[in-house]
Amino acid sequence: MNRVRCDRTPAWSALQAVWQADGQDVDLRSAFEADPGRLEAFSLQAPHVYADLSKNRIDRVAQQLLLDLAQQCGLEAHRDALFSGAAINTTEDRAVMHWLLRYPASALMNQGEFATELVADSARQVHQTLDAMLAYAQAVRSDETLTDIVNIGIGGSDLGPQMAVQALDAFALAGKRLHFVSNVDGHELAAVLARVRPENTLFLVASKTFTTIETMTNAATARAWFQAQGGQDVGRHFAALTTNVAAARQFGIRTTFGFWDWVGGRYSLWSAIGLPLAIAIGEPGFRQLLAGAHAMDQHFRHAALADNLPVRLALIDLWNRNFHGFSSRSIAPYHSALRRLPAYLQQLEMESNGKRVDARGEALPFATSPVLWGEPGTNGQHAYFQMLHQGTDVVPVEFVAVRRARHDLPGHHDLLLCNAVAQAQALMLGRSDAGGHRHFTGNRPSTFLLLDDLTPASLGALIALQEHRVFVSGSLWGINSFDQWGVELGKVLARDMQARLVSGDEAGLDASTASLLRRLRAPGSATP
Ligand code: F6P
Repeated sequence: MNRVRCDRTPAWSALQAVWQADGQDVDLRSAFEADPGRLEAFSLQAPHVYADLSKNRIDRVAQQLLLDLAQQCGLEAHRDALFSGAAINTTEDRAVMHWLLRYPASALMNQGEFATELVADSARQVHQTLDAMLAYAQAVRSDETLTDIVNIGIGGSDLGPQMAVQALDAFALAGKRLHFVSNVDGHELAAVLARVRPENTLFLVASKTFTTIETMTNAATARAWFQAQGGQDVGRHFAALTTNVAAARQFGIRTTFGFWDWVGGRYSLWSAIGLPLAIAIGEPGFRQLLAGAHAMDQHFRHAALADNLPVRLALIDLWNRNFHGFSSRSIAPYHSALRRLPAYLQQLEMESNGKRVDARGEALPFATSPVLWGEPGTNGQHAYFQMLHQGTDVVPVEFVAVRRARHDLPGHHDLLLCNAVAQAQALMLGRSDAGGHRHFTGNRPSTFLLLDDLTPASLGALIALQEHRVFVSGSLWGINSFDQWGVELGKVLARDMQARLVSGDEAGLDASTASLLRRLRAPGSATP
């Protein structure tokens, strides 16, 4: 597979020329006036998701050059390698096959669907585990004595299921309370333990590696609490979701659901890590989530680049980051059930593409992942939208709205949706009829993603869309989006610091770190 880094293509040079000439000056208001076909040229319908990209500061010439860029980078071959099960996670020598977790069982009949026997065999294992996991979820759902499910996991073992459980609350079984404990900060676990009783609680220890210190600490504390409270049967009240089944067994957990090293943590919602969601929405709901994601996979895999929504989004992301120089993107979900979407996307994109070297280890001469952040609308409007409208930095906003409400309170949803549309309009139009403090420059870019309804299927499609978009950005930038070495150093130093907290050893520490350690050890602090 021949991958070419974006800055080494002829299209990159052509884009630079276009940028210098007039690409940087695109004014959205004049662009709409000058081009009656602009909306059509910059909007797409993908499975479950309509996207209006027309309020981005890009014209058709740059758009075409970006498509050329994708082609010259070898994006299609890289995409095919992803779907063939090749080891495209080169620094860890692993395949990347989260898409296989949502591949329908019917495809198992057709061996030709899969590039290798290894992939076909993985597909069979996926469905065996999925069936077992969903049967267990159904059993938990019908066990009325289990009222509280506590998921203990962090990063990808928390953000996906937590975001999805909240997003699909309208589909959740009444009578089951789901709790998520991620932080090693004991305040989090203590607050949950104060609300549950051992005989009514199921703890799910979710960890791909089963070594993550936060999760292992929380799991051990939960088990100690369970036993101290007279809990009788760890085997019945604890289950593990992990690729390291041996470690889970050693911990004393006999109910385990496995997954594989080719599932990245931040891509693992579709695996056994999705068990809390399966308990909440049941087997049919979980299968619909997978089907929605699979529909997006098929779109990404087969649609021409120009009609391919993950590709089109990623091309605009690249234009915004590498040409306009926008360093962040604000996510504005206009649906309160999507309130954890920004946090979920932060891990997905920033852990995947927050890299300063390419896949070969060469330093990159251009910027990569932007900062993602955001809060649900309309709350954000009354907090930081001031800065989005009138601040010195331009921040592209990604609106995510849902046409149908799942409540019947009159008036609310129309008001919510009108606010989303009006904010996008205000960012673009600005206001020039007033000067000074009341002046809005406008021409501020946004993307609008619209779902008809927030269902398991549409959520699956929305998340798969974001996964593939991140893949495309990483692919064009020439980086490996599937490792996360950047999180390792802090883990090592935290272990060292723990030992120093006990011993007081300050050898080799800088003055600031040594002073902080001394303050932590001062008499009266919680630890010696
Ligand atoms: O430290 C980062 C990370 O490895 C994430 O990539 C991952 O999602 C998270 O930690 C949790 O890891 P695990 O599921 O192995 O506990």
